Amino acid sequence: MTSPFPMRFDIFTLFPEVFQPYLVVSILARARRQGAVEVQVHNIRDWTTDRHHVVDDEPYGGGGGMVMKPEPIFAAVEGVLGRPPRAPVILLTPQGRPFTQAVARELARLPHIALLCGRYEGVDERVRQHLVTDEISIGDYVLTGGELAALVVLDAVTRLLPGVLGDPDAPAKDSHAAGLLEHPHYTRPPVFRGWEVPEVLRSGDHGRIARWRREQSLRRTWERRPDLLAQADLTPEERALIARWQTKER
Ligand code: ADE
Repeated sequence: MTSPFPMRFDIFTLFPEVFQPYLVVSILARARRQGAVEVQVHNIRDWTTDRHHVVDDEPYGGGGGMVMKPEPIFAAVEGVLGRPPRAPVILLTPQGRPFTQAVARELARLPHIALLCGRYEGVDERVRQHLVTDEISIGDYVLTGGELAALVVLDAVTRLLPGVLGDPDAPAKDSHAAGLLEHPHYTRPPVFRGWEVPEVLRSGDHGRIARWRREQSLRRTWERRPDLLAQADLTPEERALIARWQTKER
């Protein structure tokens, strides 16, 4: 069931045109049509008051690069959301807290959030101190701006909203949902270039399939992301299985 009120996203950016193509395809398009999510994209430049619509300036203290000026950002966010803003204002920045599935779940519980996309060397510190309520990074690398990060957050959160995915259990099965990576997937044909789909998946035995998938999921996580295992929700039998893999390896 879709909730009677869409979750609302207000996105503040200097490049609103980058959002549109993603909003009109696939899950995001459907979620908007269904009324599960509403996305408003605002051009920060529209909130400048000078003749040249200047949004950036040189940093105090010198050094290279440009810094986003505070006035148009405050004007845009407060113009749309009120003063003080009626929704959390999240700055996308490599200095933010790491974005994870748990953070996506946390945000999906909120009725309304604002995403602020930085550009250039960053935003004037007073924006972070007096307007922004949360800061999120999508990973330890530096993008040209926060726009891609905002799309990542929008996408990951929207798929968690009630009624958005056809299968109501789908979010629970995703990689990271239970703190583990997902098992491998196969579709037809059963043999492609001589490479077979594992026999168990064609057996029709749902118990066996579920056990195989769970073990594959554990194995993948152990091989690729052992850091996730410490926090994962595992049975004592599963912990013992991993311990056996560990001893075999040595
Ligand atoms: N802006 C630039 N790099 C970023 C990152 N890694 N995460 C979020 N916003 C960003």
